[in-house]
Amino acid sequence: MNVSSILFVCLGNICRSPLVEAVARKRLAESGVKVEVASCGTGGWHAGEQADPRMRAAAAGAGYELGNHRARQLCTADFERYDLLLAMDSDNLREMRRIVAPEPGKRAALFLEWVRLEPPHEFPDPYYGELTGFVQSIVLAEQGVRGLIERLRVN
Ligand code: 4NP
Repeated sequence: MNVSSILFVCLGNICRSPLVEAVARKRLAESGVKVEVASCGTGGWHAGEQADPRMRAAAAGAGYELGNHRARQLCTADFERYDLLLAMDSDNLREMRRIVAPEPGKRAALFLEWVRLEPPHEFPDPYYGELTGFVQSIVLAEQGVRGLIERLRVN
């Protein structure tokens, strides 16, 4: 499978997918695997906004800079633009498929499943939870990105 661009997709594009994008960009650059990454949300409520301040703070503490991120909503053109669209949870995967009705050959999958982590494959949404959830998101994003790079290397 030839993957040269990946779009990470969550609900608001202010917590999980911007984090995964930042972790992936940093680790891909270090690993020398040349894949372009971006993120968006199935919902548009936060379009144009920066990442959630709690996510920005937790990410900065772990060495990931989210300051340049601005949220945007998934659009049909994204299915042409990106080789692979990886959803953070199955609600968003379903919504992605509903919005764009991907043609055969267009790839949309669950992020934590595609990277071959053990189940559960749902990436928990930290938005309505405690601050610890944001730190846990970083651990999960790092595990997922390790799996992502391994899979990209063998593909
Ligand atoms: P995200 O988190 O999908 O990881 O960006 C959320 C952000 C905002 C909302 C829900 C989840 N919201 O309902 O506004």
